[in-house]
This record gives sequence, structure tokens and C-alpha cells, in this order.
Amino acid sequence: MKVQIDPGRCQGHGRCYDLAPSLFGEDDEGYGQVVGDGVVPPGEEPAARLAVANCPERAIDLVEEA
Ligand code: F3S
Repeated sequence: MKVQIDPGRCQGHGRCYDLAPSLFGEDDEGYGQVVGDGVVPPGEEPAARLAVANCPERAIDLVEEA
């Protein structure tokens, strides 16, 4: 599973990096960025789903990989 942030939708609410700092960081202007390549480590799936559910702009997508 990977997480992605759509920069066109992100408005910098910061819920993602508050709730799941292992998966998301912020850029210089407070917009969310995925950490590294966005791959969700084992056990971090609940944090990823929490961030997705709490982004007011629905800017975070989960990508299920085969
Ligand atoms: Fe952006 Fe949503 Fe995070 S608006 S900073 S992706 S909570």
C-alpha cells in the first residue's frame, strides 16, 4: 500500500502529518508531503487510513499495490 497526496487538492490543513508523522511531512509552506516514496510500512496501515479520513480536502489517496 502506498499513500499519495494530490498537490492540487492539498490546502495545507496539516492533519496528515499531525496524525501520521511517520508517513507524512510538511513542506516549507505547510503543505503535506509523503515521506520517502510513500510506501506504508507494515503496521502503519491504520495511520494511513486515519490520515485519509481526516484530510478535509480529501487530498490523500491510498494506492493498493498488487
Ligand atoms: Fe494537505 Fe490534507 Fe495533509 S489538506 S496537509 S493533505 S491533511
